[in-house]
Amino acid sequence: MNFKTDTTLPIGVFDSGMGGLTVLNALMQLLPNENFIYLGDTARLPYGTKSKDTVIHYSYNASKHLIDRGIKLLVVACNTASSVALETLERDFYPVPVIGVIQPSAEMTLTQLPEGPIAVIATEGTVKSRAYTQTILKQSPNREVIEWPCSLLVALAEEGWHSGPLVEDIIEHMLTPLWQQLDNPAQKALLLGCTHFPVLKSAIQKVIDQNTIIIDSAFSVADAVLARLTANNLVNQQSTCGKIQYLVTDGIERFQRVGKFFLDSRNQVLSPELVSINIIKSTQT
Ligand code: DGL
Repeated sequence: MNFKTDTTLPIGVFDSGMGGLTVLNALMQLLPNENFIYLGDTARLPYGTKSKDTVIHYSYNASKHLIDRGIKLLVVACNTASSVALETLERDFYPVPVIGVIQPSAEMTLTQLPEGPIAVIATEGTVKSRAYTQTILKQSPNREVIEWPCSLLVALAEEGWHSGPLVEDIIEHMLTPLWQQLDNPAQKALLLGCTHFPVLKSAIQKVIDQNTIIIDSAFSVADAVLARLTANNLVNQQSTCGKIQYLVTDGIERFQRVGKFFLDSRNQVLSPELVSINIIKSTQT
């Protein structure tokens, strides 16, 4: 692959929809001088209920679209894609550096909760992959890890239903059986293993016990990106604020209306460009 290490190139960030904006938020705060190009593959959302092969194909094509435009690093801001497609993306797009969300999130959880049980709420696809359990146990072999599927919460987040009694009831209904399994007085961590879930954090906080630390790992991903940029001499040295470009594969109006609730700077005007992506198979899948 013809890969130019031009530091002024944008960092590519992709997710199935708006969830990756929670990661973009952290990236923009930590790396204000970098340019970013964000792709929400909204035409194919949700990824979390699709098969592993389908998610690999979608992730390959979304990444290829960004790489063909010219990026210096790719952030897979989607746990589902990171859990099943990271190796394919690293292999097929080498030498473009690729950062997924699973490893930094697992590390941050272990730092914030040095001992005690860890519950991971994520999509069905992420849970099936057991990527979090494997990554956590590699570093902390005796840890109790429970991965819990909550794909429905992605739909709530994309719908803009982020708070209120109905949302809390749904979350309570989904998390009560998980809490019954974790029913002990020890301090525990609840890792938000889907980039859509941070917008539901306050509602989640209301329904879980007070002994639980909620881990929103967006900043750990931003730290991993900064470390890789530094290691590869790819940090943009410009002193002005970077540019942000948004791409979606469907639903411009919805992205504009709901997307701003995923960003800290709510007043930011989102003007996404509609793009179409060909779905072809990755070279070796
Ligand atoms: N935001 C994605 C994640 O982190 C999943 C959403 C979806 O199901 O497409 O897993």
